[in-house]
Amino acid sequence: MFRKKPMALALSTVLVLTLSLVGCGGKPAATGGDKEVKPIIVKFAHVVTPDTPKGQAALKFKELAEQKTNGKVVVEVYPSSQLYGDKEELEAAQSGNVQIIAPSVTKLVGLNPKFQYTDLPFLFPNNEAVYKFFASDQMKGLMNSLDKYNLQGLAVWPNGFKQFTNNKRPLVSPEDFKGLKFRTQAGKVLEAQFKSLGAGSATIAFGETYAALQQGTVDGQENTFNNIDTQKYQEIQKYLTVTNHGRLDYMIIVNKSFWSGLEPDIRKALDDSMAEATKFAVEQAELLDKKSMDNLKNSGKMQFTELTPAQLGVFQETMKPVYAQFESVLSKELIDAAINAGQK
Ligand code: LMR
Repeated sequence: MFRKKPMALALSTVLVLTLSLVGCGGKPAATGGDKEVKPIIVKFAHVVTPDTPKGQAALKFKELAEQKTNGKVVVEVYPSSQLYGDKEELEAAQSGNVQIIAPSVTKLVGLNPKFQYTDLPFLFPNNEAVYKFFASDQMKGLMNSLDKYNLQGLAVWPNGFKQFTNNKRPLVSPEDFKGLKFRTQAGKVLEAQFKSLGAGSATIAFGETYAALQQGTVDGQENTFNNIDTQKYQEIQKYLTVTNHGRLDYMIIVNKSFWSGLEPDIRKALDDSMAEATKFAVEQAELLDKKSMDNLKNSGKMQFTELTPAQLGVFQETMKPVYAQFESVLSKELIDAAINAGQK
């Protein structure tokens, strides 16, 4: 099962604790005489519903990992913030209470503010540019920056481009944002983005956003078609503007001591499963984005505003100052690498 390397006392205590907790839940993977071999339990917690790209890819990872390890690993997937929400999941992963999490990259701002690159308005023109950036050295650097927190970035999974919704009026030009308050995921870049539009903002955990919108704590929010659809925001938000102004993508993160403590053959099987699940995540993201856009349009509950290129241009100009504001935080190299990924 585990191959323990010499490590600090506190850490080994956590591992022993994890192991003993792990031992309680699972079915035996194999029996050798009287001795039961307990499976390794990998808990995978996330905040969205199962019918999202992340939800589907997490289930695909479970299927592959259990198959490739012949049941030596059992993956327990906990969707919809059931196990941990935005506020707790990073700490839980660091301490080994959960083995895999998949937060949106911007929620890693507290560990490395450069993850907010993803929130620069209109940074990527299309999915291909985003995938190119995922494969870049800059992204590798971001992943490696998690090491010192006992976390390891394994993969990046896409969701899609964000759109604005609100419950007050159609958002056709930046003027329409004045006086409105929007929910954000995390970080100063998103705060600055809304400020550039004359709007206020508040960081609210994903699991609390529906209630915040319903109660009017905030007037609107920004998210992908699929998150809007699967969270049923169409029930409480009347207006959607198609802007594709920002990205929502995920870093798949494991507890580093746990991962490096696995037997090499088990780790390889899990790495291979993750690589396959990542391809699946890309397919699902593209498929579900379109499906959810159609669902929302056909629901008859939301008024869609589709902007002309000239109207979109006004948004781009208005939000552009956010780049200069955060160049020192994000670094020019990183911003340039992201922009270059979008150029032919
Ligand atoms: C959000 O908080 O809006 C998203 O990060 C949720 C998610 O995991 O897709």
